[in-house]
Amino acid sequence: MIAMAQTTWAVGQPLVRTEMPTPTPRAHEVRVAVRAIGVNPVDWKMRNRGPLRMAARLIGPPPPVVPGVDFAGIVEAVGERVIDIKIGDAVVGSTNFSRGQRGSYADTVVVGADQLCLLPPGFDLEQAAALPVAGVTAWMCVVEIGRIAKGKRVAVLGASGAVGQFCVQIAHNLRDAFVAGVCSTKNLELVRERGAEVVIDYTAGNALEALAAHGPFDLVVDCVGGYSAPACRSLLGRGGRHVMVAGEGPADFVQILVPPFKSRTVLGVATRERLMVLVEAIDAGRLVVPITKRMPLAQAEEALALSEGKRMTGKIVLLP
Ligand SMILES: NC(=O)c1ccc[n+]([C@@H]2O[C@H](COP(=O)([O-])OP(=O)(O)OC[C@H]3O[C@@H](n4cnc5c(N)ncnc54)[C@H](OP(=O)(O)O)[C@@H]3O)[C@@H](O)[C@H]2O)c1
Repeated sequence: MIAMAQTTWAVGQPLVRTEMPTPTPRAHEVRVAVRAIGVNPVDWKMRNRGPLRMAARLIGPPPPVVPGVDFAGIVEAVGERVIDIKIGDAVVGSTNFSRGQRGSYADTVVVGADQLCLLPPGFDLEQAAALPVAGVTAWMCVVEIGRIAKGKRVAVLGASGAVGQFCVQIAHNLRDAFVAGVCSTKNLELVRERGAEVVIDYTAGNALEALAAHGPFDLVVDCVGGYSAPACRSLLGRGGRHVMVAGEGPADFVQILVPPFKSRTVLGVATRERLMVLVEAIDAGRLVVPITKRMPLAQAEEALALSEGKRMTGKIVLLP
């Protein structure tokens, strides 16, 4: 198999085309021929200094280091205990370094059968690959943590990014909630199209002050980081929740402990059950997967630089 990999964990190591032995799936595992790979900020965060790299280095597989999480493709081998997935099935899923798995920047991945969701006939594999981390994280924020239902009020900071666009759509299209989104001037129309009734331009003034006129909110999702947690909490009504999607440092975790415990962090884990509900919504035309760029896997380094620039208004998909 071929992967884009770095030879060691040293920061700044380039990704190079690397040939590796094709793994044989164990009893509960599935081998997938990857057809499309979704790029996420976690892919470059794991290569840079920080808690994610430290965790992956400690508990992940040894080098060569293959970045990437999301993928979609066709099943090419199954372990002897896998009964619900067969060779030839189209699937979507995420790799998980805490299970000793290599990343998805490759033409082949091996993951647990429980990490895969079967795709309906004809489902676009590029759209599928762009879904797991961003879509599932948004689902967890809006539905599992926010418990958003019809008529509730949701504010999304960073509404034009991948997670933000899924949050807006899930809250508006699947939960019939009122949504206010925050983004830059050039993305106001995009966020309105995704379903936000109110869109605030953060370049035109203090976005949180502008949001206050449309609250109180039942959920404030911060997909950016850097917004003051107390200021976000001040936008909440009784029983409201503030979710720090981009939080990863100690300062964010401290906010969880501030009474009355309205702030949360989230770790998007793409399980089969979560993916299934999102795949069905996309298949029914109720969710749009925002793909803005397709690139060959060989250009993974350029794709990561684009993602790190934090100006993408949707997903980059790599094609092996
Ligand atoms: N906890 C988890 O499990 C989890 C899961 C997924 C992602 N994340 C994290 O969540 C963050 C977003 O991920 P993503 O995939 O959505 O990234 P993304 O698609 O790359 O987000 C880029 C967007 O951020 C927006 N942005 C940048 N600065 C902003 C600001 N000051 N105010 C409002 N919007 C701003 C930009 O919009 P404008 O150009 O309009 O400003 C751009 O559209 C990343 O830090 C990522 O690591 C965490």
